[in-house]
Amino acid sequence: ELGPYDHYMQKEIFEQPGALANTLEMVSNASALSPNLFGAEAVDIFARTQQILILACGTSYHAACVARYWLESVAGLPTTVEIASEYRYRTSVALPNTLVMTISQSGETADTIAALQHAKSLGMNDTLTICNVPESALIRQSKLRFLTRAGPEIGVASTKAFTTQLAALFVLVLVLAKQRGQLAPAQEQELLAALRHLPAAMQHVLEIEPQIQTWAKAFADKRHTLFLGRGVHYPIAQEGALKLKEITYIHAEAYAAGELKHGPLALVDADMPVVVVAPNDALIDKLKSNLQEVRARGGELFVFADRDTHISEEDGVHVINLVDHAGLLSPILHVLPLQLLSYHAALVKGTDVDKPRNLAKSVTVE
Ligand code: M6R
Repeated sequence: ELGPYDHYMQKEIFEQPGALANTLEMVSNASALSPNLFGAEAVDIFARTQQILILACGTSYHAACVARYWLESVAGLPTTVEIASEYRYRTSVALPNTLVMTISQSGETADTIAALQHAKSLGMNDTLTICNVPESALIRQSKLRFLTRAGPEIGVASTKAFTTQLAALFVLVLVLAKQRGQLAPAQEQELLAALRHLPAAMQHVLEIEPQIQTWAKAFADKRHTLFLGRGVHYPIAQEGALKLKEITYIHAEAYAAGELKHGPLALVDADMPVVVVAPNDALIDKLKSNLQEVRARGGELFVFADRDTHISEEDGVHVINLVDHAGLLSPILHVLPLQLLSYHAALVKGTDVDKPRNLAKSVTVE
């Protein structure tokens, strides 16, 4: 079953280009985008949607956080993202014409199901789920759905479910933007072409595995790590930190890089590696000055950059370049090296990669 791979996590990391292509099959074959991809009622529901509330846990929550940037910047829809286990018990104010979305690999996460039910109890009945399992509870309880086609995910650490969720969310953003008159036909075609190219770009990024293997050795004996990102890549830094703590048991914290001097900079020393998500986006110059702040305190930087980011290797600054900057789709590429880094650090440490201690694949109880 594992084929040439040693663990399910490794297999699932490398399955991502194919999983993404499968998830996008219906979209790739169509000449234009249609709301029907989400169900028969989608046109009407999307037409009345004025804001979005996304509920999810863990890695699926990080996908929601990425989607918030896309939904607001491309579709112009105000978006709130909530951790399902918090939302279900919070006294909150329901807004009219809200599309309530859940995101889940399993479709059976108890907190996410309860959060959806809570939203409905407040009168919000326009519901959509992005889920990897047909006939799951979330699918049954939502009016609209998009099934990711990642295939079964066995490793407890979620990898291919995450990137396929992001692809599905991007399609949703384009559909909503189009229906709201915010997407010119030329831009639609351009973004669709970028989506179709994504599996090949992912394949390319995965080829850096040997370089990451070398870096992983620097993490295995560390107790603490910091992950930095900005903008749409801040949730990617959070996802990288979650992966590392989940399978290596190394304490990892993610910060939006601009927040460093509000506290976490005090932690930085030579014993705490700092992983940086450094795409060549609009915030790159800001990020570069955040990195100088870390360097000035003796922090060792491990930077995942784009080829056109232009950060050079120097003492205490290690750089791996992925590909040229992929624009809006960049988070889907930048999470891949973080998955590989955790995987290889876990191998060096000898932890149980596919079944980390204390964790279950699907959290069906509270
Ligand atoms: O099945 P779901 O996507 O609803 O699961 C949510 C989380 O339990 C899950 O993403 C968890 O955080 C993963 N183990 C992270 O790798």
